[in-house]
Amino acid sequence: MDWGLKNRLAKIIKPADGKAVMLAVDHGYFLGPTERLEVPKNTIRPLLKYCDSLMLTRGILRTSVDANFPVPVVLRVSGGTSIIGEDLSNEQITTSIKDAIRVNASALAMSIFVGGKYEHQTIVNLGKLVNEAEEYGIPVLAVTAVGKDMVRDSRYFSLACRIAAEQGAHIVKTYYCENFEEVVNSCPVPIIIAGGKKIPERDALTLAYNAIKAGAVGVDMGRNIWQSDYPVPMIKAVRSIVHGHATVDQAYDMFKNLSKESPPPKTSKPSASSKQKPSKPTKKRKKKE
Ligand code: R5P
Repeated sequence: MDWGLKNRLAKIIKPADGKAVMLAVDHGYFLGPTERLEVPKNTIRPLLKYCDSLMLTRGILRTSVDANFPVPVVLRVSGGTSIIGEDLSNEQITTSIKDAIRVNASALAMSIFVGGKYEHQTIVNLGKLVNEAEEYGIPVLAVTAVGKDMVRDSRYFSLACRIAAEQGAHIVKTYYCENFEEVVNSCPVPIIIAGGKKIPERDALTLAYNAIKAGAVGVDMGRNIWQSDYPVPMIKAVRSIVHGHATVDQAYDMFKNLSKESPPPKTSKPSASSKQKPSKPTKKRKKKE
């Protein structure tokens, strides 16, 4: 592996323990101002020092993150769809490699939609992105996006993750499911899990714990951190599982204790143990997590 690629990967997956806490704040690229991420800089600022890397688009990076803070960036470079558009799988690469280098990205991220209408386009684009990124020693993280018609089981996720790895992705981000070991075992590159929609904190911590136990190298969690009423205690609790070998009970106790000392966020309405609140699209929302 080229020195640059290895060095960049080491910024995302920490060599000390081979684990990663990535904070996902890229949701606006198709969701717009989703709840608790309406003003990204307010959401991101308090959490920055607790994540190993930050996953976001160049627009939010440039407008909402202090360039003086040395957080490694996983830059989402795909998009072109919206929650009210025709088909979320119709993504293309929207950010050039030059711009990714300009913002000093440690990795590039894009989605593939295995089983989706635009499956072919997104998988070919992944291959092309890896071709280009390898020239500059930049790793690529492939996100296995799940369409509403897909069964979220280990068979599907094994298929999607393996295809991403076969195209050359250096890390794959996917969703936790039963028998997750099968997904991990059949994917030859490190797997991290997304958190998915907001669930109660203890359940989100259990998800992280089970994923790590099954062989995931870490989490790329968004809503289950910043849609909590206590985002900093939540990210610290998640960290304690990923990097600190904490059990679910230990992590949840940590969350509860830290929450008592923290004021709830002022940015928008609480949603601690609630589901994601619908925003105001004019068409029926499509499902994609
Ligand atoms: C989704 O397409 C985005 O890539 C998110 O980064 C991803 O879903 C992880 O965020 P969450 O934990 O909120 O699911």
